[in-house]
Amino acid sequence: MISLSGIKPTSTPHVGNHLGMIEPAIALQDQYDCRYFIADYHAMTTVHDAAKMREYSHGIAAYFLAFGLDPKKCIFYRQSDLPQVCELAWILSCVTNMGLLERAHAWKAAKDRGTAGEECHGLFAYPVLMAADILIHDSDIVPVGKDQVQHVEMTRDMAERFNFTFGETFHLPQAKFNETMATIPGLDGRKMSKSYGNTINLMYAPKQLKKQIMSIVTDSTPIDQPKEYETCNVYNLYKLFATPEQCAELAEKYRTPGFGYGHAKLALYDLLMEKTEKPRQIYNDYMAHPDTLEDVLRDGAARARVKMDEVLNRARKAVGYRVN
Ligand code: ADP
Ligand code: TRP
Repeated sequence: MISLSGIKPTSTPHVGNHLGMIEPAIALQDQYDCRYFIADYHAMTTVHDAAKMREYSHGIAAYFLAFGLDPKKCIFYRQSDLPQVCELAWILSCVTNMGLLERAHAWKAAKDRGTAGEECHGLFAYPVLMAADILIHDSDIVPVGKDQVQHVEMTRDMAERFNFTFGETFHLPQAKFNETMATIPGLDGRKMSKSYGNTINLMYAPKQLKKQIMSIVTDSTPIDQPKEYETCNVYNLYKLFATPEQCAELAEKYRTPGFGYGHAKLALYDLLMEKTEKPRQIYNDYMAHPDTLEDVLRDGAARARVKMDEVLNRARKAVGYRVN
């Protein structure tokens, strides 16, 4: 069974990415044939700076390796190292109605903002490239956060339409997401997202990480009064990383007058620093040795290519092109 997923190198991953996609995807590496990639073609819709593209791509690679992705068990590659996916995206484009793409969340959001006319064609066509990413591996499951489920459903629509027109060619994938991690809250309680500027980034330098945590929005209950923990952003973020015993302990402190939100934030900071001590070393080490990252990605691309060429040829044959 094949598990496939990708993540855009548009910044260093935040806790929403970490718990919504990265950790669940890595956890499948012993059970599935996992193929994970850095979606740098997708990042082109917003990243228009070559140095940043390289830096963020290396950042994602180092992050996955630091949090336990084993490049011997998984196929881990960078999307732009294998441009065959763009050919498949074109083929799929020609069996995809504009109406389907107009229903995509990201496009609808651009229309609601009134910016659709200034968006690049890449943003509109994004779900087609994503479908190509998925179908080119005969993927069975796609571990992603909840907001990506619509794209996996659109992928199934495109595959069905193609299969109906040209004969059975593509395997239909299924999105896999964890309901409890569906929407991780950010510093202000809204969905954690780069675009809201409300993120916590585990691999930030300790000082920066502390600054993010200290800016979590809380209510104004005075320090000498007991506090609600269930509705507190700090507690809700703490809970995602702590053991049940640690949670119970912190909840008890919330009920104790004299315990302020500043104390709770420090408890969260200490917990995150403790949890990330080892990954942080590995991450920094990889970031200091980009050649090692390049070797891992080169090896991943060579292994990914085998299946991708096979599926692309299947599609080429189905539409009447020469098989390469
Ligand atoms: P952002 O919203 O910050 O731009 P991306 O769209 O790049 O994040 O998301 C990358 C992956 O992380 C996707 O699989 C997405 O579903 C998941 N993800 C992003 N934010 C969250 C969140 N707050 N909670 C759960 N999963 C998330
Ligand atoms: N669209 C995904 C995101 O914004 C990234 C992505 C691109 C992806 N291609 C994919 C995820 C294929 C899963 C499968 O996070």
